[in-house]
Amino acid sequence: MNTRLDRAPTQGTLIHRFQSVTEPLDWVRLFPAAQPVELEIGSGDGGFLYRLACADPGRNFVGVERLLGRARKLDRRARAAGLANLRLLRIEAGYLLRYLVPAESLQVVHINFPDPWPKARHARHRLVSQGFPATLHRLLAPGGVVYLRTDYGPYALQMREVFGECAQFAAVETPAALAGILTEFEAAFNAQGKATFHAAYQRD
Ligand SMILES: C[S@@+](CC[C@H](N)C(=O)[O-])C[C@H]1O[C@@H](n2cnc3c(N)ncnc32)[C@H](O)[C@@H]1O
Repeated sequence: MNTRLDRAPTQGTLIHRFQSVTEPLDWVRLFPAAQPVELEIGSGDGGFLYRLACADPGRNFVGVERLLGRARKLDRRARAAGLANLRLLRIEAGYLLRYLVPAESLQVVHINFPDPWPKARHARHRLVSQGFPATLHRLLAPGGVVYLRTDYGPYALQMREVFGECAQFAAVETPAALAGILTEFEAAFNAQGKATFHAAYQRD
């Protein structure tokens, strides 16, 4: 299968131009090849997704990032490498998951170092909270997996708690090869000697 850009990328950028923010996305129309889709929420500077996309041309990778500067950084890098299996969505992740991702259309979701909201009065803003497993259960294909990472201990406990309470997900191991692919934030935490937590859950 040809995974290089033999078609022009969308107007010279891999950042998707939404035609509608009310109609669900059709992944098949975003990519040259119909393949399993992996989504990273809060892809940041994008080194993690870039490496996944380079390593696995048989899958399509989507980064969701609300900061344009970060999305552009990954866009430039992926286009320079000629990657055809990577796209970026510059949008608020909660809205995307609620309204635009088709049911059972994702094979994998990655959530790496989501904003920790450490103050007690802000903890309600955390992405991975009560109700989140149900959202992911609707969007993941049967057998699909969510991979989670955080540097913030209380958030790691919260992640384990909310998925532990959801009978539709079972804890699984993060494959060593995947765990070895660091994100930019993780590399910085490692350099400071700070521990990071990895967890993974598979839907029924
Ligand atoms: C702490 S950084 C981690 C970035 C990257 N995952 C890493 O590990 O290097 C969190 C990222 O998520 C993005 N983000 C936070 N909330 C978001 C939201 N609601 N929708 C989209 N992106 C969001 C931020 O802009 C930021 O780039």
